[in-house]
Amino acid sequence: PTFADQYDVVVVGGGPGGYVAAIKSAQLGMKTACVEMRGRLGGTCLNVGCIPSKALLTSSHHYHDAKTHFADHGIVIDGSISMDISKMQDTKSKSVEGLTGGIEYLFKKYGVDYYKGKGKLTGPNSVGVDLIDGGSESLDSKNIVIATGSEVTPLPPVPVDNAGGKIVDSTGALEIQAVPEKMAVIGGGVIGLEMGSVWSRLGAEVTVIEFLDRICPSMDTELTKKFQTTLKKQGFKFKTKTKVVRSEVTDNGVVLTTEPSKGGDPKEETYDIVLVATGRRPYTEGLGLEDLGIQTDKLGRVEVDAHFKTAVPSIYAIGDVISGPMLAHKAEEEGIACVETIAGYAGHVNYDAIPGVIYTYPEVASVGKTEDELKEAGIAYNVGNFPFSANSRARANGSSEGFVKVLAEKDSDKILGVHIIGPNAGEMIAEAVIAIEYGASSEDLARTCHAHPTLSEAFKEACMDAYDKPIHF
Ligand code: FAD
Ligand code: NAI
Repeated sequence: PTFADQYDVVVVGGGPGGYVAAIKSAQLGMKTACVEMRGRLGGTCLNVGCIPSKALLTSSHHYHDAKTHFADHGIVIDGSISMDISKMQDTKSKSVEGLTGGIEYLFKKYGVDYYKGKGKLTGPNSVGVDLIDGGSESLDSKNIVIATGSEVTPLPPVPVDNAGGKIVDSTGALEIQAVPEKMAVIGGGVIGLEMGSVWSRLGAEVTVIEFLDRICPSMDTELTKKFQTTLKKQGFKFKTKTKVVRSEVTDNGVVLTTEPSKGGDPKEETYDIVLVATGRRPYTEGLGLEDLGIQTDKLGRVEVDAHFKTAVPSIYAIGDVISGPMLAHKAEEEGIACVETIAGYAGHVNYDAIPGVIYTYPEVASVGKTEDELKEAGIAYNVGNFPFSANSRARANGSSEGFVKVLAEKDSDKILGVHIIGPNAGEMIAEAVIAIEYGASSEDLARTCHAHPTLSEAFKEACMDAYDKPIHF
């Protein structure tokens, strides 16, 4: 039976935004349900995003290391080294299954009701659910949180067919069963470079086709220049300022026709597999937003106020479906802040302190402002730079490519941005995030004792360079 106020909070979507919001909501004592249509919790991130991609990145990194770096450490492998792709895929699937199952366990532990089905907003306080196993439910709730995430943006000249296996999106690229000889990646963004790295390490010749003049255009220019040079050394080919105007699937692969971005002579090239990775867009299909008068912007993002509230006061939205970076940890922070607000607390997300990491080798990690952004805003700043080639641990490890760059406000010395390319950058950036969150100066960090020998000393020395001089460079 349904009755008014059956739930305090119903969350539609069980990704990192939705499931975290649901758990936090239940922890705050609110009666909570989560509706997910995929059949498994964890959303894009756990099922077809962050987790499976990192599993393949780790496996392919081990293989590449064994082939190219073990010998440097005196490890002799008698006989050939080969890759069992199906075993690698199996390991990936097991990590995904374990983690999605883990969230279902957490739902039980904290008392979140889980409905497997597609949710539709049927009123300001009601959600209809078409259950996967047939039948339907109607849930009444004081508050509703939309956390329906995002999907791949189609690229009209290159229609994706994951089942066909020749033109794939990121989901298809996670399921490739044999190493392609030649692979094209359309879009030099995060997905293209991570998935490109996986198949490049396993032996594919990877060509990245990017519309703009550089890869990862929203990141710090100095960082992405270094990144592109490093990937080139690894065998990546880059066609920047290039657009794809046509594709044709043949028995031999996919023929791509490209042109200079600004127009010019077309060129044709054949690839075994083409990965389309030119961005993602919010997913709100069949949610019933229009009937409730909830607006989306021109990119399809649900419009919310600073407290994640839509035009309907009882309905909120978080994660990839609203504005901001499409990142799992951003969605999680919003999930927590949103339900804290609903429960009457002061939920807040600091958008200046959201890190972004690219899990290639070396890793690339950033937080806060880029140099271009500071210049544009007319903010005077100091730059601190420190190369990993001058860091003792990186040298001892035999992997010392990259640098740490710290941007601090000229007058106050407050850290405004940190950009790292190098081994373990994704873990190192956490220290920079805390620095920004607590409003630290570069001198604060430079005077903080860092264990020796660690890679994080490179961050300390970059901070020393920002306000004075480093010791080891
Ligand atoms: P989603 O994770 O997309 O979850 C939304 C869920 O809602 C989905 O499961 C969907 O089935 C469900 N849903 C939608 N509509 C309905 C409905 N009407 N009823 C019921 N359920 C519905 N981010 C990182 O931070 N780090 C990474 O390393 C990283 N790697 C990535 C790699 C790849 C290949 C991809 C594609 C993405 C990656 N991302 C990464 C991005 C990350 O996955 C997303 O930012 C994150 O998943 C967004 O979380 P969300 O909860 O907003 O949405
Ligand atoms: P993206 O926005 O990161 O990169 C897309 C790239 O494609 C850009 O460089 C863009 O200039 C280029 N492009 C756009 N249209 C093009 C065209 N027609 N032809 C050629 N190039 C074109 O998008 P991506 O890589 O698809 O990733 C989607 C989202 O997933 C990102 O927002 C990212 O935040 C998230 N993600 C995060 C990861 C992480 O945190 N490590 C890993 C993978 C994805």
